[in-house]
Amino acid sequence: MTRKLFIAGNWKMNTSLADATALAGAIVEKIGSVETVDMTVCPPFPYLTSVKEALADSKIALGAQDVFYEDSGAYTGEVSTAMLKDVGCTYAICGHSERRHVIGETDELINRKVLKCISDGIMPILCVGELLTQRQADETIEVVSRQIRLGLEGVSSADMAGVTIAYEPVWAIGTGITATPDQAQDVHAMIRSLLGEIYDAATANNTQIQYGGSVKPDNAAELMNCPDIDGALVGGASLKADDFAKIVQAGK
Ligand code: PGA
Repeated sequence: MTRKLFIAGNWKMNTSLADATALAGAIVEKIGSVETVDMTVCPPFPYLTSVKEALADSKIALGAQDVFYEDSGAYTGEVSTAMLKDVGCTYAICGHSERRHVIGETDELINRKVLKCISDGIMPILCVGELLTQRQADETIEVVSRQIRLGLEGVSSADMAGVTIAYEPVWAIGTGITATPDQAQDVHAMIRSLLGEIYDAATANNTQIQYGGSVKPDNAAELMNCPDIDGALVGGASLKADDFAKIVQAGK
C-alpha cells in the first residue's frame, strides 16, 4: 500500500500578520518544492489571503482551521466554504479537539461541516481523539469509533477520496506528551478497520490518517514509519519553519 503522507500545520490562534507571512515564506523556502508529501498550513482566518500569496505557486496548500455549514446569512463570526474557496483554501480542519472541548462542538455539528466541505469542494480533515480520562477508563476505541461514525454520517465511499482523518489523543495535544508509536498505531489500525466496516477495504486502504499531538522533529519519523500512520497534524512545531520542514523531511 502506498498512501502518500500528508502533513498539516495548524497554527491555531498564533502569529501576527507579519509573523504569518514570514513563517509561510520561510516554509516555502525550505520545503516548497517537495512533491512526495502532501502539505498544508492552516493560519488564522484573517491571514489566509496573505499566507496564500506567500505560498505562491509552491506545493504547499492553504487550509482553514474551521468552517461553517451554511452558505451565507445571519451567522455572526462564521466563515463559509465559498469564502474559503475565494481565498484559495483547499482544506478545512473539522472538529479539532479544541473546538470540541473548549468551544463545545458536537459530533452532529462537525458532521454538518464535513458534509458541507465535501459538497462544496473543500477537503475536510476530520479530527478525532479521546480525553485522558477516557483512555484511562479504557474507552478509547468506543470514543474514537463514535466520533468517526457520527462525523462521517452521510459521507459516501466516493466522497472519502477527499477526506482525511486526524487521530489526536487530547492528552497529547500541546502537552509535550506524545502517544508512543505503538499506542498511535493501535488506534490508527482500529480506525482503518472501522473504515473497512463502514465502507470497504479499498476505501479504508486509501484514506490518509494523520497522527497529531506533540509531533516534533525528533519523534516524527518513528510515528510516520508505523504502517497505518500517514502523516501528521502539527500544532506547536508548525510555528517554526525549521521544525515543520524537518517533520516533512522525516516523511519524505
Ligand atoms: P500540538 O498540536 O502539535 O501542539 O500538540 C496538535 C494539534 O492540536 O493539532
